Amino acid sequence: MRGYPLVRMTGSTIPFASRCPMTTIDSTSIVPLAPASAPFSEQLPLPLVGADLVVPLVTGERVRYVNLDCAASAPSLRSVHEAVNALLPWYSSVHRGSGFASVVMTEAYDEAREVVAEVLGARPDDAVIFTRNTTDSLNLLASALPDDTTVVSFASEHHANLLPWRRGPHVHLPVPRTLEEALTRVDDALRAATTRHRLLAVTGASNVTGEIWPLAELTAIAHRHGARIAVDAAQLAPHRRIDIAALDVDYLALSGHKLYAPFGAGVLVGRADWLDAAEPYLAGGGAVRRVTIDHTEWTDGYARHEAGTPNVLGAVALAAACRALAAAGMDAVAAHEATLLQRATRGLAKLPGVEILSMWGPSSKRVGIVAFTVKGWHPNALAAALSAEHGIGVRDGAFCAHPFVASLVGVGPDGKTPGAVRASFGVGTSTDDIDRLVDAMEALVLRGPRWSYRVTAGRCVPDPDPRAWPRIVRSRARRDRPRPCSGTIAGTVDRDRLE
Ligand SMILES: Cc1ncc(COP(=O)(O)O)c(C=O)c1O
Repeated sequence: MRGYPLVRMTGSTIPFASRCPMTTIDSTSIVPLAPASAPFSEQLPLPLVGADLVVPLVTGERVRYVNLDCAASAPSLRSVHEAVNALLPWYSSVHRGSGFASVVMTEAYDEAREVVAEVLGARPDDAVIFTRNTTDSLNLLASALPDDTTVVSFASEHHANLLPWRRGPHVHLPVPRTLEEALTRVDDALRAATTRHRLLAVTGASNVTGEIWPLAELTAIAHRHGARIAVDAAQLAPHRRIDIAALDVDYLALSGHKLYAPFGAGVLVGRADWLDAAEPYLAGGGAVRRVTIDHTEWTDGYARHEAGTPNVLGAVALAAACRALAAAGMDAVAAHEATLLQRATRGLAKLPGVEILSMWGPSSKRVGIVAFTVKGWHPNALAAALSAEHGIGVRDGAFCAHPFVASLVGVGPDGKTPGAVRASFGVGTSTDDIDRLVDAMEALVLRGPRWSYRVTAGRCVPDPDPRAWPRIVRSRARRDRPRPCSGTIAGTVDRDRLE
């Protein structure tokens, strides 16, 4: 194995001990590309705030930033930004304010809930609860499970859909190597669970490989066993149309910031009965009908779990994003991303040493995510060079899915996985962005880095780093501060990291 070419410090290598084979995508098996100028939907790529952002390189040039980290957090749609801007002058209290602006804000908040419910195809009696994000939504659902509920999930889940369930009876199934295995394992686990209630918690699309899970089949199996199904749609919702009623899923969680509405709101949609019977997620104003000094009468419906002043701007932004994506047409979005994915996969797969991560092989259906390793390169070093020398933002690490990534790429002697690099894209991504990634990868893999790097606070950084920072941050010294849960390439600091 080549050493990490970018890292001057010693002690930084983590051998890749693969426990499970990775899928190498053979570029000859991929259908020929559409030409770069082929029209997608008339509207795509959709305009995003920051699409023309220019960033400095360590080499002194300034280039348009290519954001290929949409799976972590997507930039705001311009239409979402406009909706928030239009609301700001009216910003005032909601629910009980009697001023005209308050009445308008309350209406905007209520309307946002209606739009989200409508676009996601919620049933008329579903609860639609605004939260902070998917993690919050799933923790809320976990807190509302009736006693005597077993939760079944796969080890391939994002931590947000793994850890909340560990507070009660749960079964973590191993990463399935085929779709058929996934269905069989769920069937067996639900049959074996002896508790009164059972919940299958599954992602709609993997945040690591982008592979789409067979929700219709899984829902049918869950319901056949009298179980319910909760879908983590954080990665599915930005890429595919979702119809909760048609799919018949019981709960669905998503994040606004992954759906081009980065204003701090998420949502949990689903069956109201467990939620109405549960202790309120937050205790406080708005969640009650009546309070005396020694008695609380909680309300039901969404308000039961939304105590405190709600994030009205976030909810309105989320609704505006739902509207904009529905107007663009999710089929057009999916077609747009399929073309980009094919272009990226084909371009990367032809480079020596590149392995594309997959559970179910190259023909599996995927959203706009491609995660890969490159022989001889630490993922963090590669991600650092893509940013510093090419102005491309990707993500590296284990993507808050440690058991899954460990199963795909293996672990080092310290028991930790070195992770992978992930490029993820969406409605604002163009073929030009993908070509920038492929060209930069080709330059790095074939010719090596043009700059030197060191490891600080467990991360690979350019050394020296002459890039001027924008005035929105106060000081250059920030970069050396240890970050909570930040990863390391030295293998001595905990690799845990958050998305
Ligand atoms: C599949 C999946 N589920 C859940 C989450 C958690 O989302 P959030 O950080 O918005 O709560 C993520 C975030 O990356 C994700 O990709």
